[in-house]
Amino acid sequence: MSDTLTLRRPDDWHLHLRDGAMLRAVLPETARHFARAIVMPNLVPPVVTGAQAAAYRDRILAALPGDMSFEPLMTLYLTEDTDPDDVAAAHASGLVKAVKLYPAGATTNSASGVRDFDRVRGVLERMAEIGLPLCVHGEVTDSDIDIFDREAVFIDRVLDPIRRTTPGLRVVMEHITTRDGADYARAGGPDLGATITTHHLIINRNHILVGGIRPHYYCLPVAKREEHRLALRAAATGGEACFFLGTDSAPHVDHLKEHACGCAGCFTATNTMSILAEVFEQEGALDRLEGFTSLHGPAFYRLPPNEDRITLTRGAPVSYPAKIDSGDGTVTVFDPMMPLHWRVA
Ligand code: DOR
Ligand code: ZN
Repeated sequence: MSDTLTLRRPDDWHLHLRDGAMLRAVLPETARHFARAIVMPNLVPPVVTGAQAAAYRDRILAALPGDMSFEPLMTLYLTEDTDPDDVAAAHASGLVKAVKLYPAGATTNSASGVRDFDRVRGVLERMAEIGLPLCVHGEVTDSDIDIFDREAVFIDRVLDPIRRTTPGLRVVMEHITTRDGADYARAGGPDLGATITTHHLIINRNHILVGGIRPHYYCLPVAKREEHRLALRAAATGGEACFFLGTDSAPHVDHLKEHACGCAGCFTATNTMSILAEVFEQEGALDRLEGFTSLHGPAFYRLPPNEDRITLTRGAPVSYPAKIDSGDGTVTVFDPMMPLHWRVA
């Protein structure tokens, strides 16, 4: 087996960069390896309008160290008051690459999300017309639905009806966590894609709960049973174009993770490429890593793949920091519970 691997530079199709000091702390972790990222809009307050997205993009670029290059691909946070004309203008100007649907209450800073899906029909129809993708946090929020079932129920009750009533709408199922999600994505044709995170290839729900509660493995959608993790590994490493990397790297300071009501999110920006190379090697699929990290995502978003390359080399276990400093407290880097042998040169 060769111990050098050269790939087109990867992109991250789902990333949380936050703002202020946290933005300055985490942006280099992503920009070191990734050329572009779809940047999530769940700030407080959320990024709802084109003007807010333009201002956020400027703050991201201002936070980028001078010796790094990185292109933030901006998103708008869909609310029941979103103006279809504002969305269309932000898309036409090239600023905005997707709109994000959070069901209200589903996750971090989703309170302004959608409660009544009929109230966003006009925006979705306009997006279908102009080909602007909808990135979907696919979980129902009904209190009577068990948290481990919320993705599968969302597909039946919300996602499938939206796709049937809005023909031509291009949808990314974000951070799928189940076999159900992978199967639905596979069957959806060219207008449906799905991102898979790094951490959902590593952890199942036992890792969160057995032998003590491990808050740094808690994220949303929550990791499911082992059979689902294996289905995600098969999807990510199988070479199908509908699956691509969206790390959902989501930094929270440690004192808010290690808390009586801990925040959801795994921070994987620092070691994602090493973890993915290890996973693809374990699955005998190193030749498919480039598709997952660097080709399928641009194809779905109708953007050219990156022209420059990164090289990974295999050797002695890679060292990386256990925590990074955010200015406001430390952020724990995701622990994959195994040595990583692939380093980005
Ligand atoms: O684990 C998560 N963290 N899932 C999300 O959907 C949001 C994210 C965050 O913003 O912290
Ligand atoms: Zn996310």
